[in-house]
Amino acid sequence: MRKPIIAGNWKMHMTMDTGRAFVREVAAGLGDTEVEVVLCVPFTLIQPLKAAAEGTPIKIAAQNMHFEDSGAYTGEISAEMLKEAGAAYVVIGHSERRQYFNETDETVNLKLKKAHEAGLIPIVCCGETLEEREAGNTEAVVRRQVIAAFEGVSPEQTVTTVIAYEPVWAIGTGRTATAAQAQEVIGYIRGLIETMYGDVISEEVRIQYGGSVKPDNIEEIMNEVDIDGALVGGASLKPDSFLSLVNF
Ligand code: PGA
Repeated sequence: MRKPIIAGNWKMHMTMDTGRAFVREVAAGLGDTEVEVVLCVPFTLIQPLKAAAEGTPIKIAAQNMHFEDSGAYTGEISAEMLKEAGAAYVVIGHSERRQYFNETDETVNLKLKKAHEAGLIPIVCCGETLEEREAGNTEAVVRRQVIAAFEGVSPEQTVTTVIAYEPVWAIGTGRTATAAQAQEVIGYIRGLIETMYGDVISEEVRIQYGGSVKPDNIEEIMNEVDIDGALVGGASLKPDSFLSLVNF
């Protein structure tokens, strides 16, 4: 049985005060949730929110990392630093990073391996642009991204990796993929993992959908057989909205 995982991706939002208040309010509304609850927060909030979430089911994630252990990389942060600050997860290869910060399939792969080495759980993102979808290249693009991301990654590491399928055209646009569209690609990704690692691993690996997930569409998305959770931007910024996602 794969445990559902709902992750809020705060992007460049929230402060110490609003972040702490958010954690308090969400923790109070969670109850005995069966869902893995993750907040992907700005670097400066990792440590304070890890402390604020102590004793609650809420786990903290970073939104990016560098693939080297250390060195002259001004402005960058290592996996070990994230781990030390209290992150349990790290988002890798989000489309905004691919689009604006020169993230490539190759750096995604280096980061994925380094995250595992440091004991972080990577949430690795993939997804096609609108142009790629309309040209009929969705599967080819996702295939290229997934194969590249997992190059040299062991079966033991793969099984603990979370994959997030996020079609670029659905992110922050209000234009959600239908549950059937999301299932189609996520089923394809699971099949790909099966050809790469076998059916035991592919049955266990968790695959999220991301892109304009909201309280009113979470249930149909979560009802799909291969979809194990959601990576949520906009609708994760308000405690009541995030709570209704987690308690879908
Ligand atoms: P969105 O963002 O929910 O605002 O579309 C999703 C994401 O970027 O992870």
